[in-house]
Amino acid sequence: MRKWIVAGNWKMNNTVAESMALARAIKEGSSGIQDGSIILAPPFTALFSVGQIIKGSNVSMAAQNMYYEDKGAYTGEVSPAMLKDLGCAYVIIGHSERRKYFRESDADVNLKVKKALDTGLTPIMCVGETDEEREKGITKDVVGRQVKNGLAGLQTIDHIVIAYEPVWAIGTGKVATSEQAQEVHAFIRGILRESYGKAADELSILYGGSVTQENIGDLIAMDDIDGALVGGASLKADGFLGIIKNIAEKK
Ligand code: 13P
Repeated sequence: MRKWIVAGNWKMNNTVAESMALARAIKEGSSGIQDGSIILAPPFTALFSVGQIIKGSNVSMAAQNMYYEDKGAYTGEVSPAMLKDLGCAYVIIGHSERRKYFRESDADVNLKVKKALDTGLTPIMCVGETDEEREKGITKDVVGRQVKNGLAGLQTIDHIVIAYEPVWAIGTGKVATSEQAQEVHAFIRGILRESYGKAADELSILYGGSVTQENIGDLIAMDDIDGALVGGASLKADGFLGIIKNIAEKK
């Protein structure tokens, strides 16, 4: 059985004090929920403090990015070992905002995914098409390329999570329909099955893009949607807990 995952990507939001308050509220509000994974991805500056709060709880922590070297003269970068040291179990890799604003390529994503795995972090690898790409009818070409290139050279996908985040749905309030999302999720799983066989059925694929507690119900009812990567709605404890409870009930 695949496990459900709900991850809150706080992006470049929240001071340390705000992050601590939010992490506390989510930890307390979700304390009885055990069977899936609840993940918080605070900004780097709050990882230490949030890590202290969630220690020993059912809430895990992800970083929003990392570099693919262990250490050295890479001013401004953060290594996977540093993230592990702070209590991260996961790391988001290849988010569309990184691809767009920081020109991350599929090759960069691949290096990061491999390094994260080598360090014992579970990558949450993001893929997704833009508005123009969907209009042109090349969604599957784009997503297929991102999945294959991002995972190139990997012998196993046992410790990988994939997030399908259509770029046109991120921060726009324009959520994909459950059918649109299911179609791409099933397509991704199909590609993985070709290379990795049954392991594809164990891998969790999350949907991301304008998820709220109001619209998560229809999405999570779909066979290949195993959870959510939530941006805006993860910044308020009530809304995020609403999403978590919805998913925990339905999966
Ligand atoms: P929103 O939920 O704000 O659309 O953001 C989604 C996202 O990018 C999560 O990584």
